[in-house]
Amino acid sequence: MVAARDLHRTYTMGRAEVHALAGVTLDIAEGAFIAVMGPSGSGKSTLLNLIGGLDRASVGSLRVAGQEITTLDENGLAFYRRRVCGFIFQSFNLVSSMTALQNVEFPLVFARVPRAERTRRARYLLDAVGLGDRVGHRPTELSGGEQQRVAVARALANSPRVLLADEPTGNLDSHTGAEIMALLGRAHQEAHLTLLMVTHDPGVAAHAQQILRMRDGQIQID
Ligand SMILES: Nc1ncnc2c1ncn2[C@@H]1O[C@H](COP(=O)(O)OP(=O)(O)OP(=O)(O)O)[C@@H](O)[C@H]1O
Ligand SMILES: [Mg+2]
Repeated sequence: MVAARDLHRTYTMGRAEVHALAGVTLDIAEGAFIAVMGPSGSGKSTLLNLIGGLDRASVGSLRVAGQEITTLDENGLAFYRRRVCGFIFQSFNLVSSMTALQNVEFPLVFARVPRAERTRRARYLLDAVGLGDRVGHRPTELSGGEQQRVAVARALANSPRVLLADEPTGNLDSHTGAEIMALLGRAHQEAHLTLLMVTHDPGVAAHAQQILRMRDGQIQID
C-alpha cells in the first residue's frame, strides 16, 4: 500500500538545513497496522505528512495505493488526500465553529456528496463512535476524548484506504486513550484500512502488528 524509496525531506532554515527525513526506504502492506516510534524530532510526523500528501518530499519516490505521489501537482495532491487518506491528530484539529455533525460532514462537502447522504453518513459514523447524542455539540462543548471520537469519525468519512494518526492519544488520559485505540482497532478491522500511527506510548504501540522505529530521519533496523 505504501512504498517509499530513499525518501528525503530537508527544511531550510536561514542558512541551516534540517534533514527531517534522511533516506527512508519502506514497504507497508495493505491492511497492516503499524506503530511509528522514536525520539522527538526523529521525523515521525514528517513521514506521516508525506504519506498523507500534506507535505512534499525533497528527493525520493513515494507510491501510495499504486500511485506515485511525489510528482502530483496541487490539484492531484488535493484529490489524492481526499480519496485515499484519513487523518487524526494529537490536538483533534476540529473546526471550532462547527458542530460535531458538521465536522464529520466537512470532508464529504469537498467530495461533492449530496447533502442528505452526507448527513446520513456523518450521523452513522458519530453513532458508531458512541456520540449519537452529541451531534449538535461544538468542540468546546465536548470533552477531549469526545473531540477525538469526532475526529475519528471525520477521518473515516471518506472511506480512506490509509488512516494516518499522529499521536492520537497524546492529549488523552490512559482510559480515554484506550477507548480511542479500541475505536481505531475496530476501524482497522472492519474497514480493511492500512493504519499508520505515531505514538510515544509503548502500551499504545502494542495494539499495532509491527513497530517501526525512527532515529535522525531514518528507519532503524532492530
Ligand atoms: N516546517 C518545518 N520547518 C523546519 N523544520 C522542521 C519543520 N517541520 C519539522 N522540522 C524539523 O524536522 C525534524 C523532524 O520533525 P518531526 O516533526 O517530523 O519530528 P517528530 O518525530 O514528529 O517529533 P515529535 O515526537 O516531537 O512530534 C525536527 O528536527 C524538526 O525541528
Ligand atoms: Mg511529531
